[in-house]
Amino acid sequence: MKVTGVILAAGKGTRMKSDLPKVLHSVLGKPMIAYGQNAIKHLNRKYVVVGHKSELVIEELESGFQSVLQKEQLGTGHAVVTLLNSDEFNHDDSDYIVIIPGDVPLLIKEDIDSLITQSLETKAALGIITAEIFNPEGYGRIIRKDGTIARIVEQADSTEDEQQINEVNSGMYCFNKKFLRDNITNLDTNNEQNEIYLTDLIEIAFQNNLDTVIVKVSEDTIKGVNSMSQLNDVEQTLRDKLINLHMENGVYIQDSSTTYIDEGVVIKPGSRIMANTHITGATEIHENCIVGPNTMINNSSIGSDSTIISSVLDGVTLKGAATIGPYAHLRKGSVLESNVKVGAFAETKNSNIGKGSKIPHLAYVGDADLDENVNFSAGSITVNYDGKNKHRTDIKKDAFIGSDVMLVAPITVGEGAMIGAGSVITKDVPPKALGIERNQQKNIDGYMDRKTPKDKN
Ligand code: UD1
Ligand code: CA
Repeated sequence: MKVTGVILAAGKGTRMKSDLPKVLHSVLGKPMIAYGQNAIKHLNRKYVVVGHKSELVIEELESGFQSVLQKEQLGTGHAVVTLLNSDEFNHDDSDYIVIIPGDVPLLIKEDIDSLITQSLETKAALGIITAEIFNPEGYGRIIRKDGTIARIVEQADSTEDEQQINEVNSGMYCFNKKFLRDNITNLDTNNEQNEIYLTDLIEIAFQNNLDTVIVKVSEDTIKGVNSMSQLNDVEQTLRDKLINLHMENGVYIQDSSTTYIDEGVVIKPGSRIMANTHITGATEIHENCIVGPNTMINNSSIGSDSTIISSVLDGVTLKGAATIGPYAHLRKGSVLESNVKVGAFAETKNSNIGKGSKIPHLAYVGDADLDENVNFSAGSITVNYDGKNKHRTDIKKDAFIGSDVMLVAPITVGEGAMIGAGSVITKDVPPKALGIERNQQKNIDGYMDRKTPKDKN
């Protein structure tokens, strides 16, 4: 039997009070809708019902997910009618349709799979995922009769008694397509919200004595996001779960309450993540690194045995055993070969830094190529920008750049050359040469004695 997957993502998310469509809010670095897509991506056909700011949502769809536009958002039932009547859906040849909301990022693929398996095996009219939830407010409550599910009552339509029910609707269903087609047009808007509720199909199935499947799962996996505080709650839940997974994989996490690791970040065993550290984007940290405290790493690859303390790295590749910080800022396109040191108040950008090279303190290295074993001393910078264009600095192997040097690019410092402290270097320096640009020092004898007593103070 064929199963098609559908994500409902047309709603504005009014309760979020945000311009961004709800399903695009980030949960640990990924838009909420990415989690839904991940859970059903193995299905043959996949649709996403889009509406509010649809062009933004469509941008986040992975290949294989087809969008269907619901121009006006008149409720979850209306979203499904729109899908079934759309041109895009004409080609659909499935027997069952899995429907999930776009705002339940904690959902688990295995739960969806078991919903599908059980619905298909029993040839049910519909299957539904429910959960007992500590604070059920806002969810549709499951009304059971003789153990089976009789109907769902939305919060807005519920009586005080019904509000005491803790079993709630996850919004995830597996419908027999024929049942769906035959009955969806019978739904009305006779409810508090004047919407077409998809949930009303449950009562229709019950009244017609049709088989339904209930898959009950754990509370955390069905939490919906309707407000900023629910977004935060869901993100915390996922954060705790991921941090535990990293620890199970042999990563030490010193203080989970101040550690933020995005979904998809890879950390190899033996690494230690110290307090107050953010590791985000497509970041990979290899074995036996020490990262933090007080460090932010985004979209970077950190080679094994590196140490990074109180620093910010974004779009960086460390090939291995680097020593970074405290207080270093490594920006996009910094590629460090092994055993490189970048120390306090040093910044690098769009630069290749050779094996064993050192930028120990107070320096700027931008648009530069440093070969092996270059020493780039305190107070020195590459002057890469002339106000219009960026130029490169090329520093060959074993060169020694003294303190407080301006290397005005484009410029090349030859292999083994030395640059005297305080120089403004505008011409290439040949290999093994001393490049120096400095006024002669003057010493004025007896100067201090000639000063008046008043000046002396
Ligand atoms: C819905 C369920 C509720 C369930 C809860 C689980 C209904 C009537 N209620 O309530 O029983 O407990 O989810 O999280 O279904 N959407 C559209 N088009 C629309 C309206 C909504 O695509 O016209 C999408 C939204 O973008 C969202 C999803 O459907 O992703 C659910 O809509 P939402 O308004 O959040 O429903 P809830 O009030 O949470
Ligand atoms: Ca919701």
